[in-house]
Amino acid sequence: MTVDKLLEVNNLRTSFFTFSGEVQAVRDVSFSLNRGEIIGVVGESGSGKSVTFLSVTRLLSESGKIVGGNILFEGEDVTQMPTLKLRKLRNNQIGMVFQEPMTSLNPTLRVGTQIIERIKAFNKRISNREASKRAEQLLEMVRIPEARKHLNSYPYEMSGGMRQRVMFAMAIACNPKLLIADEPTTALDVTIQKQILKLIGSLRDEINTSIILITHDLGVVAETCERVVVMYGGMIMEEGLVDEIFYETAHQYTVGLKKSIPDVNKVGGTRLFSISGSPPSLIDPPKGCPFTARCDKAMRVCVNHCPPYFQLSPTHRSMCWLLDPEMPSNLAVESVQ
Ligand SMILES: Nc1ncnc2c1ncn2[C@@H]1O[C@H](COP(=O)(O)OP(=O)(O)OP(=O)(O)O)[C@@H](O)[C@H]1O
Ligand SMILES: [Mg+2]
Repeated sequence: MTVDKLLEVNNLRTSFFTFSGEVQAVRDVSFSLNRGEIIGVVGESGSGKSVTFLSVTRLLSESGKIVGGNILFEGEDVTQMPTLKLRKLRNNQIGMVFQEPMTSLNPTLRVGTQIIERIKAFNKRISNREASKRAEQLLEMVRIPEARKHLNSYPYEMSGGMRQRVMFAMAIACNPKLLIADEPTTALDVTIQKQILKLIGSLRDEINTSIILITHDLGVVAETCERVVVMYGGMIMEEGLVDEIFYETAHQYTVGLKKSIPDVNKVGGTRLFSISGSPPSLIDPPKGCPFTARCDKAMRVCVNHCPPYFQLSPTHRSMCWLLDPEMPSNLAVESVQ
């Protein structure tokens, strides 16, 4: 492993064992993240984005298990870490902004109390006075005006955007090497969304952290990230630099996601595009490419054979049979539609 790699996920498989069967939420996912890099992870609801990153910190619910692969954080395998070390990893190295800001903040405690609690989780010897000063500084870092005053606010007294900033303050309290933000802008209106994205970019430079930004909106990653991982049906469909994903789009699923980005220049009268059909069941996932049933260009081979990754550039890869230079032309025309 080269020195600048912070995180390396290899052939990760995570399943939930439920009464209805094994939900194969993450199916053979591999990617890596360099120090100081911001990557975006995009995909529709249920594509396995959150579960992939809950696996990285092993914060899965009781029925969830990592059933294959490994996760190397600074070269150490998280899947084999003993509890104490794992706790240290979560407290000192990885900051998480969870998907539901309202459920992650305790409504009965002042914001300052919650940030101080977080600071004390990794620095037990810090005095109350110092912790309070640090909490104020953190609120300033996430651009909350009148930081000292807001330490005394309750979450319900704050707007959605402000609460999201508080979540970031708590996540960066330990100066994490990795910050994972799961749908941090979904519930916010466009102006506030832009402010939060700007904040994410500046936090990377200020605290020198790597960032994983999870979102269902390809437009969001275009503004903020350097690299993009596109997920569907628990797998990575395509991965590349932002420009490669946008201008040399390789997978039909990414094509659909791209079309779904609302065009702010079009005025009225146009319907928003959405990919027809719904994601596959992960209890009995398709044998072939998971996108086959919704893909306009699906071929017979896609039904039963999962394509390998085709490397399109050193930074760009995608799993789609259409990219196979050796695909016999008779198969390519044998559409399943
Ligand atoms: N605790 C659980 N028990 C059973 N299945 C689960 C559990 N958590 C997630 N899943 C399943 O795992 C799959 C992936 O879920 P995940 O939460 O990672 O999706 P996501 O891409 O984050 O979607 P969203 O955009 O809605 O947050 C889904 O099919 C989901 O139903
Ligand atoms: Mg999610």
